[in-house]
Amino acid sequence: MTHSGPYELPGSVLDTLTPVSKRQVLNRRGSTVWEITTDGGRHAAKVGYPSATHAWTALAPAREGTILQQLSPGGVSYGDWEHGTWNIQPWHQGESLFDLWQPHRAEGASSEPDPGEALSCAEAVAALHATGWAHGDIQPAHLIISDERTALIDLALAYGGDIPTAYDFSYRGCLVHYESPEISRSVLETGTATPTMAADVYALGASLFISATGLRHVAYPDDASRKDQRQAIVKGPHRPVNVPGVLGKLIEAMLSPEPADRPRSAEICKELSSGH
Ligand SMILES: Nc1ncnc2c1ncn2[C@@H]1O[C@H](COP(=O)(O)OP(=O)(O)OP(=O)(O)O)[C@@H](O)[C@H]1O
Ligand SMILES: [Mg+2]
Repeated sequence: MTHSGPYELPGSVLDTLTPVSKRQVLNRRGSTVWEITTDGGRHAAKVGYPSATHAWTALAPAREGTILQQLSPGGVSYGDWEHGTWNIQPWHQGESLFDLWQPHRAEGASSEPDPGEALSCAEAVAALHATGWAHGDIQPAHLIISDERTALIDLALAYGGDIPTAYDFSYRGCLVHYESPEISRSVLETGTATPTMAADVYALGASLFISATGLRHVAYPDDASRKDQRQAIVKGPHRPVNVPGVLGKLIEAMLSPEPADRPRSAEICKELSSGH
């Protein structure tokens, strides 16, 4: 029998930090996320356990913890608990891309998405790519925008460096609404895929598009099975990109079916900062 959580914070998390206050952010699909305030600042704690359909969700927090420590060790710890693994990482204050752009999706919206905000999302992706890692799960909820910068969170599925075997598991695609045709094809044919920087660029394009318009990159019914969704993505074409200006042109290029035709994340930053 699997338990659907949430569980209390494991003792090993409480041994690592002492909460002054805590708030459960979400509990779903084998993962509970907490925002924890301590005397030293704010942290996110992610606690994983096996979900009804997947065993890997139990390992995801430790896998992410090992990656975060390789990228920027400050404030990151991880470990095991009775039902899986956990991590602690710095809390990023801000609004997700999806929430920030809600006004553009509202009935009768007149304002257009800010290319500067899109640039800060692209910069977060490009900064990760510069380290040699692909994210593998870019989506509008994983881009947290503040006045100073955008944080790209949830590195549990990232690919590009060493992962301890005990915490590793194979990549079975990402949230289908952001999945590139080549990843969908591979998952349909073999059950797994390998995250790439080009697939991240596609996912960034699909994230900017849905946040600006409310539309998925490819049209499929809400109740379509995962398999049918992936088949629609492979078959294409993606929806026409009705976002104006340089941002719209870039999203169109990011959604190119051929990975080699997509701009690199650093090129997207360059285009958006030159603003033509
Ligand atoms: N470091 C962080 N700073 C701020 N918010 C965070 C942080 N980590 C997680 N969150 C919040 O918790 C939510 C879920 O986190 P995350 O995506 O990392 O977990 P998950 O278990 O993969 O959840 P999901 O199944 O939704 O992908 C995020 O969308 C965000 O709102
Ligand atoms: Mg997530």
